[in-house]
Amino acid sequence: MNRRIITIDGPAASGKGTIAKQVAAHFGLPFLDTGKLYRAVGRYALERNLALDQADEVAELVRFARSIDPKTLSDPKLATDEVGNMASKVSVIAEIRTALLGFQRDFAHLPEGAVLDGRDTGTVICPEAPYKFFITADVKIRADRRTNELQAYGKSASYARVLRDLEERDTRDSTREVAPLIPAPDAIVVDTTKLDIDAAIALVLSHIR
Ligand code: DC
Repeated sequence: MNRRIITIDGPAASGKGTIAKQVAAHFGLPFLDTGKLYRAVGRYALERNLALDQADEVAELVRFARSIDPKTLSDPKLATDEVGNMASKVSVIAEIRTALLGFQRDFAHLPEGAVLDGRDTGTVICPEAPYKFFITADVKIRADRRTNELQAYGKSASYARVLRDLEERDTRDSTREVAPLIPAPDAIVVDTTKLDIDAAIALVLSHIR
C-alpha cells in the first residue's frame, strides 16, 4: 500500500481546499481537487441545458464524465457558485459518481503518492489511505468566510444568500444515498471554526509527521 496518500474531505468553505494544497506543496505530492471533476460535469450540464431527470441526457453526462480531459480542470469558469451548485446536483447521480471513480483512483495510486480533496476521498475513493482528514466548521463561519472571499474578488455577495446556498449544499451532499459527506471512521476531524488557516494547516501537518 502506498504510504503517501492523504485524503482531505469536508463541506464547502471549510478551508479543506487551502489546507490540501498546502499539505501537497509541503510534501511535494501531486494534488487533485476532486470537486473540479463534478464541477466540470455540472458546467457541461448547464451549458447544454441538460435535464437531470431525463435518462438520455444523464447518459450524455455520464459519457462526458468518463472522458474528462484533465487539462480542462484548471478553467477558472469552474469556480463560480452557479457551477458549484450544479456540481452538487449532478453528484447525487450514482452513474456519474461511478464514471468519475477511475480517474480519482488512478490519481490516488500514482507511484509518488497524492493528496486528494473532496467529499468522499477517504470513505469511497481511497479508504485504504493511511492519512485521512475531515475538515469542518460551523456553517455560519463558513458563510462569513465565503462572503468575505467573494467581496474581496469584487463580486456582490449577500451573507444571507451565501448562508442559504451553503446550507442547501450541505443537506444535499450529506443526505444523498451514494457516498454521502461523512467522515471516514478513522479520519481525524479538524474543526476550523475557531482556528485560522495557518493553525489548521499546522495541525494537519503535525498529525502526518
Ligand atoms: O468542493 P467543491 O465545492 O468544488 O464541490 C462541488 C460539489 O461537487 C459538491 O457540492 C459535491 C460534489 N463533490 C462530491 O460529491 N464529491 C467529491 N469528492 C467532490 C465534490
